[in-house]
Amino acid sequence: MRTAPVIPVLVIEDAAHARPLAEALVKGGLRVLEVTLRTGAAIEAIAEMKKVEGAIVGAGTVVNTDQFKQVMDADVEFIVSPGLTERLAQPIINSGVPFLPGVANAGDIMRGLDLGLTHFKFFPAETSGGLKALKALAAPFYQAKFCPTGGVSLVTAPDWLAFDPVLCVGGSWVTPKGAGNAEVEQLAREAASLAH
Ligand code: 3PG
Repeated sequence: MRTAPVIPVLVIEDAAHARPLAEALVKGGLRVLEVTLRTGAAIEAIAEMKKVEGAIVGAGTVVNTDQFKQVMDADVEFIVSPGLTERLAQPIINSGVPFLPGVANAGDIMRGLDLGLTHFKFFPAETSGGLKALKALAAPFYQAKFCPTGGVSLVTAPDWLAFDPVLCVGGSWVTPKGAGNAEVEQLAREAASLAH
């Protein structure tokens, strides 16, 4: 979460695009790459992206233990989930792989703290009340750190990142549908230059 200010959330339809895309992102300064398990190409895309020097490749949208096993076999370096269930969290914690589960309210954060977790994805960030909601939530949970994701953009990211418990933000804006790799590299460069 401290490696780069932005974690690109990637939905990859064609694994053949994965490696050049990862190269563009890393060249632009974004090394931490979240590949969502929303497409059939995701596992192969992870393998392709891992070949890129400097890339730190994780899996996103991991929602059950079968997917957890699948991404561990793919040797991911971190796991992101949109939510937090004990059933999924416990085996991930036991494995030692960095885990960023989604939270949207106080109960979610308390369940995470009970499990020994302190770093969370605040999801879906904008529709869960935005920065105002996160500020209210973070107050009683002084030990918690967050990566807001969902509706974050280059325009709103600086406000999120200026809030101390926010270590980074996540978003798909760096890889718009149909964008070429030169454009992605430029968007990554802008995102990587945000202060955090
Ligand atoms: C996610 O999967 O974390 C979000 O869908 C990304 O949200 P965004 O597309 O609004 O950036």
